[in-house]
Amino acid sequence: MSRSALLLGATGLVGGLVLARLLASDEWQQVTVIGRRAPDVSHKKLRFVESDLGQLERHVGEFAVTDVFCCLGTTLKQAGSKQAFARVDLDFCVAAAAQAKAAGVQRFLMISAVNANRNGVSLYARTKGEAEYQIAALGLPCVVFIQPSLLKGKRGEFRLGEEIGLTTLAAVMPLVRWTRADWLPIDAQTVADAMVAAALKGPTAGVHRLRYRDLEKFSQQLLLNH
Ligand SMILES: NC(=O)c1ccc[n+]([C@@H]2O[C@H](COP(=O)([O-])OP(=O)(O)OC[C@H]3O[C@@H](n4cnc5c(N)ncnc54)[C@H](OP(=O)(O)O)[C@@H]3O)[C@@H](O)[C@H]2O)c1
Repeated sequence: MSRSALLLGATGLVGGLVLARLLASDEWQQVTVIGRRAPDVSHKKLRFVESDLGQLERHVGEFAVTDVFCCLGTTLKQAGSKQAFARVDLDFCVAAAAQAKAAGVQRFLMISAVNANRNGVSLYARTKGEAEYQIAALGLPCVVFIQPSLLKGKRGEFRLGEEIGLTTLAAVMPLVRWTRADWLPIDAQTVADAMVAAALKGPTAGVHRLRYRDLEKFSQQLLLNH
């Protein structure tokens, strides 16, 4: 089967790793990236479309692909306000899924979070939960929400909250490894590999949520096949 991919968030930690996997794989003949900044790679399969993502309906043609990978996200600090945060983590993600549905995409995969909950206590959990809720309601053929806990990986910027979370979790990890594995920090590479493997070998219909153990399992499948 001939596949093509559209990737949003390609300049981010997970998105950059997903992009590398898609470009290296023979399964995808074309990879389109939409974003406000071009990714730092060039490849004959890669097409970059510059957009601030505020009007994704202008790019409906780019959504005529088999698989859409959404790795968008920001932090409250980066965004500057709750509204600006929700614009990225909710509005852009739901708009991308709506365009994917309109274009007849087979699979929409999105990085969400383990604590996604539209009735959750934190703004972050509520925003992720609301995005999942609205996207699941669109009726796409297949939706995969990737739900990692804290991401481990090299970033250009220092994020104090995430560093505190990683240190705290490292201390309790031996206690939670078997009982609360979903909350374990996970390598961004594992998440990216699992996302790509889920597109290749994962569910083909319905709405699915993948957490720590699923992500480990899917990422192994990708490594076994490449
Ligand atoms: N960090 C964690 O520990 C953690 C844990 C669980 C889940 N997650 C979720 O995992 C996903 C990926 O995280 P990540 O750490 O890989 O993200 P990241 O490195 O912060 O990258 C985010 C991506 O979103 C794009 N983006 C952000 N604001 C934008 C805007 N206003 N307009 C256009 N594009 C925008 C960025 O583009 P630019 O390069 O142009 O800014 C970048 O490509 C996110 O949804 C995040 O919430 C993260």
